[in-house]
Amino acid sequence: MLDIKDAVAVITGGAGGIGEELAKYWVRQGGKVVLSDISAEGLSRVEAEIKAMGGQVATLAGDTTNEEDCSRLADLAMEKFGSLNLVAPAAGVIRDGLLVAPDRETGKVTKKMSLANFQAVIDINLTGVFLTVRECAARMIDHGCRGLICLFSSTGSLGTAGQLNYSSTKAAMNVMPKVITAEFFRRGLGDKIRCVAIAPGYVGTPMVKGMDQKALGKILEQVPIGRLIEPAEVASLIGELYRNEAMAGETFFIHGGLRLGSKG
Ligand SMILES: NC(=O)c1ccc[n+]([C@@H]2O[C@H](COP(=O)([O-])OP(=O)(O)OC[C@H]3O[C@@H](n4cnc5c(N)ncnc54)[C@H](O)[C@@H]3O)[C@@H](O)[C@H]2O)c1
Repeated sequence: MLDIKDAVAVITGGAGGIGEELAKYWVRQGGKVVLSDISAEGLSRVEAEIKAMGGQVATLAGDTTNEEDCSRLADLAMEKFGSLNLVAPAAGVIRDGLLVAPDRETGKVTKKMSLANFQAVIDINLTGVFLTVRECAARMIDHGCRGLICLFSSTGSLGTAGQLNYSSTKAAMNVMPKVITAEFFRRGLGDKIRCVAIAPGYVGTPMVKGMDQKALGKILEQVPIGRLIEPAEVASLIGELYRNEAMAGETFFIHGGLRLGSKG
């Protein structure tokens, strides 16, 4: 079992939602955090709050789709704290819409998912994760660090209507732990650096609270526990996945019992 005390977590999307909650959870367990986010303002707020908790934190305002920013983030962890033990690329976005939307009356297509909305989600949720994980994993290997890469999938990985872009990126998160675990195993690193994904259902963060409220109400009717998942519950799962070294190469769902139906 690993101990979070003194372990260093690199968290993207650290200025809000699950990333912020995970950062505060990590610090409460005695860990240190290196946070990045595209929102410099949000990052300053979280940094101040963590310092007020007595936590050790370093921040870098940056874009997860930018190769240089991802490299600087991984370097920052080594320079500031001399280690890198948890990689949590939480930065993510949604840009929902149907692939093609026929008008309910005429039956003719009146709207399409724009290339911009498709590409933005691929860039941030897939390419951004690739760059963050590549840079952080390279530093972990070069400096002999032990720990976990924890990716953010979603129940959307099973196929949510209106989220062709998002669901595609989250399905990719389900396979990445298998590829990375196999690659590390080949190079004799399987016992040092593990990779998993978590797949939350609907978590009470700005991403979900900003959804169409009618649609959200309908979704919640389908959740057996009858409420949104708390960000703290997601952070706690990641903490356990970090500690428990038997957890590797797999996606772990946390959705309050939700099952998607035929209409996604
Ligand atoms: N909230 C949910 O219900 C839910 C469910 C399943 C999976 N997830 C996943 O969990 C992760 C975190 O989601 P959340 O709900 O906390 O979202 P959120 O919107 O609350 O926070 C995401 C953070 O990412 C940052 N960000 C966006 N684009 C960025 C970029 N290009 N570079 C750097 N930072 C950027 C935002 O500024 C924000 O602070 C995402 O990958 C999301 O897909 C969330």
